[in-house]
Amino acid sequence: MLVLGIESSCDETGAAVVDAQGAVLSDIVQSQVALHARYGGVVPELASRDHLRNVGPVVREALRQAGVSITDIDGVAVTNRPGLVGALLVGVQAAKGIAWAAGKPLVGVDHLVGHVLAVFVRRGPEADPLPEFPFVCLLASGGHTAIYRVDAPRPSAIVELGATRDDAAGEAFDKVAKLLGLGYPGGPIIDRLAVSGDASRVALSAPMAHGDSLEMSFSGIKTQVAQRVGRDGVPATESAVAAVCASFQSAVTTLLASKVVKAALRERVRDVVLGGGVAANRELRRRVAAHGAVHGLRTFFPPLASCTDNAAMIAYAGAVRLGQGEVDGWDLVATSETVLDRKTRKGRGRR
Ligand code: KG4
Ligand code: ZN
Repeated sequence: MLVLGIESSCDETGAAVVDAQGAVLSDIVQSQVALHARYGGVVPELASRDHLRNVGPVVREALRQAGVSITDIDGVAVTNRPGLVGALLVGVQAAKGIAWAAGKPLVGVDHLVGHVLAVFVRRGPEADPLPEFPFVCLLASGGHTAIYRVDAPRPSAIVELGATRDDAAGEAFDKVAKLLGLGYPGGPIIDRLAVSGDASRVALSAPMAHGDSLEMSFSGIKTQVAQRVGRDGVPATESAVAAVCASFQSAVTTLLASKVVKAALRERVRDVVLGGGVAANRELRRRVAAHGAVHGLRTFFPPLASCTDNAAMIAYAGAVRLGQGEVDGWDLVATSETVLDRKTRKGRGRR
């Protein structure tokens, strides 16, 4: 079975061809980063228009690189939630048009489910070890940060154990980078600069780091950086900027690693999986691997191309749905809400 996947939920237009085992025949990502960089974040209307320009060529390129034509495809999967609705609509309409014209089944995929299952996508010839259900997944991206218990590859078996009460972890990386004048997206830049920084020079702490709760918060640490910059200005030297990056990244990754390991121990599962753009962070991977090993946990980190937004994970999640006999109708809608149950309430105050 071959599935064509289409992704347009945020600022990447993606198309991929993947088989039922998750083997990638092609995976095209057209990034809009340059388009949004001057605004320090994604401008929804610009994103929609760019998806519209790119979706046709990106799909054609995915089919070409896979060496197949649309008649060889067994189904079309598309991200239909959550995300920017105008952006999602472009992918959904393209997928409907292609599926209808070619007489293929259509399946909508929740972007978060795509990130959770991205670890099963296989990009190389070697058969990497795969996690076994049930496992715990930390999904940390620009729009979402949550820890899930995953009993099976379907939304009803993916249960939120805790999530951020405010900003997503990636959002905090992006905002801190913006405060430091480093550009967008901030995650990869901070990841790079933090390597040479001395974290002990700058005292920053991640709130909610202690205690048993699996809820998280990232807006407080961003505010600490904002207050520092407000008081002292943007650090003048490269080493002072690197020190802020190192301290911020250390606090955030320590918090994420401790929460996901805590979740695995509490749920009595052996496998820990990372997903989402922030899972590309090298310090996070190192901390989760080290902390997990202490407790005898196995840790699984998808390759970078599977962490950040891509259509291969959407095609794979669609293949799983098709394999379970599920198909959507032509009335499939784009919506900003995830299909996954949310437990964590946004905002401050006692629970
Ligand atoms: O999953 P993704 O590509 O898009 C969303 O669904 O949001 O995640 C993008 C986010 C951005 O906030 C970006 O700064 C962050 O992931 N990110 C990173 C790294 N690479 C990307 N954060 C920390 N370290 C990285 N190496
Ligand atoms: Zn994403």
